[in-house]
Amino acid sequence: MGEATALAAVLAVYQRRGEVANDCLYAEVKESLGFTDDDYARRETIGRDTRKHCVATRAIRWYQQSLRRMNLVERVPGRRGVWRLRGALEKELTPAAAGMTLVGFSTQLGVALWSSCDVFKGITEPCALILTSPPYALAKPRRYGNPPEREIVEFIVRSLEPIVKNLLPGGSVVVVTGNDVFVSGTPARSLYVERLVLALHEELGLALMDRLVWHQKNKAPGPMAWASGTRQQLNVAYEHCLWFTNDPIRCFADNRRVLMPHSEQHRKLMEAGGERRDLSSADGAYTLRAGRSFAQSTPGRIPRNVLEFTQHGREIAEARRAVRAFGLPLHGAVMPLGLAAFLIRFLTREGDLVVDPFGGFGTTARAAEDAGRRWLMTERIAEYVVGQAIRLRDAAGFRNSIPLDLNHRLSFA
Ligand SMILES: C[S@@+](CC[C@H](N)C(=O)[O-])C[C@H]1O[C@@H](n2cnc3c(N)ncnc32)[C@H](O)[C@@H]1O
Repeated sequence: MGEATALAAVLAVYQRRGEVANDCLYAEVKESLGFTDDDYARRETIGRDTRKHCVATRAIRWYQQSLRRMNLVERVPGRRGVWRLRGALEKELTPAAAGMTLVGFSTQLGVALWSSCDVFKGITEPCALILTSPPYALAKPRRYGNPPEREIVEFIVRSLEPIVKNLLPGGSVVVVTGNDVFVSGTPARSLYVERLVLALHEELGLALMDRLVWHQKNKAPGPMAWASGTRQQLNVAYEHCLWFTNDPIRCFADNRRVLMPHSEQHRKLMEAGGERRDLSSADGAYTLRAGRSFAQSTPGRIPRNVLEFTQHGREIAEARRAVRAFGLPLHGAVMPLGLAAFLIRFLTREGDLVVDPFGGFGTTARAAEDAGRRWLMTERIAEYVVGQAIRLRDAAGFRNSIPLDLNHRLSFA
């Protein structure tokens, strides 16, 4: 189970029950986090502390603390071990009715629709990139619309199909998706990622360019049940960015748009005229020639296909604060702005159209806007569309179409 999934499972208990004592929380999330009674009974020493602790309940409290840091839950004053949701989240989320599409807001470069992504069946605008992070596959579907594991591949393929039809020749599709879905009750990973790669190839005719890795060193520990619990797994540190194109030869990805600074050592090597020795390694597969290799000064380093980005940063922290100030729920599964910005610059040219059918907190739109790309996004939950509007309110030509009334309640709900 991934971090976002575990956080959602813990949060769902507070959404269902309001105030919850920790013992009740442990019981409610036991199954969905993959714990057993034995996990709850077992005590172990942790680190240098000689006292024994329950690893499983500690893990759950760790998620509780993460939700507290996101301002989603709080302690109930005067009642030891009892926590509750903070303010606005008690309200239900508001999904778009079937067949309904409203403009949430627009900027000079883009439009955010409050709608199911089904609306793309009627849109024919050519696009250069589909960059999206679909809802995660869950063992038990959540109320904000996560399909169960057995249906996730079909759901993603059918959602992307009408947009892929609009992809310019050589355009790209990137699906950012978790690696941490487990076969129920076991530490074996679901093969949905493999099935998804094959389905996108076989059903939509897409060619796989790469399985880019989004690496996050400081990711929250997990899968709790299998890494901290049974110890059969390692803690996770990456997610997939599955990158496809409809035409590999004409693919207009260009790494010159995302070059990284050279290391100091490499810069000095180029300034000194490059390699001074002939070198050969890997049985001659890799050779360096004295006076030739690295003799030309180049503008930057070609990035490697492991992308290191953190979900934290000033922009998202500020946007989250603003969303909370409006009394709106925070989105719990956001990708890093830096990751979206990198992929957009790598895979599109200025003025190209970038599409995200699962808009969430609007990371794709924010990154496209910053990079001077046009964008189009759908999101089915109204409160998240308003969150996106708050996040992009400083963009040129911003126009909000879903007004908030003075009580910060959604006046259209
Ligand atoms: C993992 S989140 C996307 C997060 C986004 N990449 C970001 O960085 O903010 C998936 C989003 O898809 C939305 N969603 C689920 N089903 C949808 C559908 N059929 N049409 C449009 N949006 C949908 C969910 O409400 C959720 O906000």
